[in-house]
Amino acid sequence: MKKIKFCDIFFNMNKDEFKEKIIKVKIDEVNINGEGFCFLDNGTKVCVKRVLPKEEVLVQKTFEKNNFINATLKEVLNKNPLRVQPKCPYYNICGGCDYQHLSSKNALKQKKEIITKYFSDLYNKEIKANKSQLDFNYRNKASFYVFENKVGFQKENSNKLIEIDNCMLLEPIINKALNIFKNWLIENKTKDINHFVIRTLNKKLIVTMVVEKTPKNLDKLLNCFKKEFVESSLGFYLNFNKQKNVILSDKWQHIFGLKFLEDEFEGIKYNVHPYSFLQVNNNVKNDIYKLVLQKIDNQVVIEGYSGAGLLSAILSKKAKKVIGVEINKKATKDAEKLKVLNNINNLENINGDCKTILPNLAKQYKKSIFVIDPPRSGCDLQTLTAIKENKIDKIIYISCNPYTLKQNVKFLGDEYKITDFQIFDMFPQTSNIESVVCLERVK
Ligand SMILES: C[S@@+](CC[C@H](N)C(=O)[O-])C[C@H]1O[C@@H](n2cnc3c(N)ncnc32)[C@H](O)[C@@H]1O
Repeated sequence: MKKIKFCDIFFNMNKDEFKEKIIKVKIDEVNINGEGFCFLDNGTKVCVKRVLPKEEVLVQKTFEKNNFINATLKEVLNKNPLRVQPKCPYYNICGGCDYQHLSSKNALKQKKEIITKYFSDLYNKEIKANKSQLDFNYRNKASFYVFENKVGFQKENSNKLIEIDNCMLLEPIINKALNIFKNWLIENKTKDINHFVIRTLNKKLIVTMVVEKTPKNLDKLLNCFKKEFVESSLGFYLNFNKQKNVILSDKWQHIFGLKFLEDEFEGIKYNVHPYSFLQVNNNVKNDIYKLVLQKIDNQVVIEGYSGAGLLSAILSKKAKKVIGVEINKKATKDAEKLKVLNNINNLENINGDCKTILPNLAKQYKKSIFVIDPPRSGCDLQTLTAIKENKIDKIIYISCNPYTLKQNVKFLGDEYKITDFQIFDMFPQTSNIESVVCLERVK
């Protein structure tokens, strides 16, 4: 692949435009979003991704307002000794990864340092950083964007498609399927496909083509897949969707083979449909669930934001009773199926909004443990208030956003203290940080 040179980008810019947009800065630190930052003499804060502390870099301004500049990296003038050459040829182009300029070991070390500093006012013991078994090829799901018979990812902060042949984060079987699809697309050009979604588990694969109408020569594509994969390990769906703002609609057509993927963990059998939510890094997901299981006893466990219910089902093996609360109807239905499949009778799945249901459960089960795994926006304040008012003893908080995690912990105030803080490298090569925090009521 051709390397884009600094001079190529600015070929069409006149000298003044060039000076205006490009600035030289020295990075102070990297923040919880993985962005390096520093301050100009006039106090303006500059944020830029894919840089390391103390590096001198040329950056291009992309946004400027009220003493704040967002910029993209153009050239590293003075490297931090930890900087390594990113392995992926699309690094800096597709925008999916933002930590490949560090070795995986140093990337996790940096995440630990950032989190330790960020939470230093709330926790002063050592934060344990748990590695991912796989540094690359760990993702079990990919959604490719299809446009004008090209397949790839959408460029960061843009609608532009970056065509790719291989993504180093994906399990290899997904890249193999991608290339079968690409070759078919070259021969059978069509405007009817918007996305190509692949999910894998235990070397089995479900392919979903997101289409406006059934594309021509679909049988040829199926034959290409059947040639390359054992038929019993393959499933194929069409999803009909004309909307551009969401990838999948509710209109599914099963075309061939497997309807769902199956797995088992901690004695719980589970099925994953192409629409189900499942953490993308299977090994790290299992490590997190094991830790939560260790931290509960034979008590009532209330799990807020419980998704398709896998964690609730696992916890039901040890808990007296588990109640899972989830807003997505399909996910709650899956959680019910999981309960039946595993013959669990101490588990209740409630479909609804945590902010209305969890406060009542906190009142009803004052001696319970709360496990919460909210989306990036964090836990609702009604639940946190009810936890405090009902003097719930223990909270296990799984978080994918350190910022909202900290806000929520602060909201709980002095009545709760963090007794264990661990981070998990759920998304190696990216700046995302997954945390599991145990909070206990101060007696
Ligand atoms: C990070 S996922 C966790 C899923 C699950 N714990 C797991 O490990 O697979 C967050 C879940 O919260 C659900 N959710 C988001 N807002 C919610 C709300 N207000 N009330 C209940 N569930 C909500 C989402 O549908 C999603 O399934």
